[in-house]
Amino acid sequence: MEETVKKKVMLSGIQPSGDLTLGSYLGAIKNWKERAEEFDCYYFMADLHSITVRQVPADLRRRTMEQLAQYIACGLDPEKNTLFVQSHVPAHTQLGWVLDCFTMFGELSRMTQFKDKSQKNAENINAGLFTYPALMAADILLYQPDYVPVGGDQKQHVELCRDVAERFNGVYGDVFKIPEPYIPKVGARIMSLTTPTSKMSKSDHDQNGCVYLMEKPEDIARKFKKAVTDSDTERCVRYAPEEKPGVANLMSIYSACTGKTFDEIEREFDGLGYGAFKPAVGEAVIETLRPIREEAQRLMKDKAYLESVYRDGAQKAERIANRTLRKVYKKVGFVARF
Ligand code: TRP
Repeated sequence: MEETVKKKVMLSGIQPSGDLTLGSYLGAIKNWKERAEEFDCYYFMADLHSITVRQVPADLRRRTMEQLAQYIACGLDPEKNTLFVQSHVPAHTQLGWVLDCFTMFGELSRMTQFKDKSQKNAENINAGLFTYPALMAADILLYQPDYVPVGGDQKQHVELCRDVAERFNGVYGDVFKIPEPYIPKVGARIMSLTTPTSKMSKSDHDQNGCVYLMEKPEDIARKFKKAVTDSDTERCVRYAPEEKPGVANLMSIYSACTGKTFDEIEREFDGLGYGAFKPAVGEAVIETLRPIREEAQRLMKDKAYLESVYRDGAQKAERIANRTLRKVYKKVGFVARF
């Protein structure tokens, strides 16, 4: 019987704090759909995390729905993956509090994302922004996953999660499975088109550096034509991430969209220079994103369907999450209500 072999578990979240980007697609979501057969997968819209930075309520609500539509359009089949909204499963905040009490001030102070974000939001360095990694640890540990696929920037948070889990297990016995971060190699870090030394980010202030999943083809084409390459005289398409980070980034994008290797790309554009290369990357991206955009637009009009997906997802997620939470509550000494 199939059911007797327990699949390994994977879990990841994305904050609905900005529109999904080409970076999140190539670096993360694209790799998610192939895994549904092999793993038991949980993906959620991390809306609780989003409010560590002030949000316009209507926008947060709309983006959460759009993100769900976009996940599905990217190929995440809701029949094969558990898709849900983080705030629909109260166990996240409940375990989050317990783990706050097992996470050290010093550890949280060392998180580079906290340091970055508090610099960028100097007027709103709130406690949530600071304790966010403990909530993220709760997100993860509730589902006892084997792997947590994340971008490179989240590795430090997953490592903290492991430390917190080990600390808890050290006191109470084996309550949590210790998860491994799972960082895809190709496309793990798609960089900004205008500042290729920093990650393509939905919260980037430079709109030309970032391509959105739902963006119009003509805008995508324009952004790639303007993409930063380098100023050397060679003007040749060659993979040298240290010397030519802009070109390397465009090559990674082209490779992820077409499946071609860096060698093949170098040969394809041999003698052609950047004038031919940049629009070709733009075209490849446009064709990769076109079916996703069209499907997401169709799904956004089908509210009843999206509601049924997140309702079923939350129900399934809650069953697993509550099992872990009950165990934790018992271990720490809370009186059981039932
Ligand atoms: N912190 C992640 C980000 O900013 C999102 C996230 C929240 C997450 N909880 C998670 C990712 C749990 C993986 C697992 O991108």
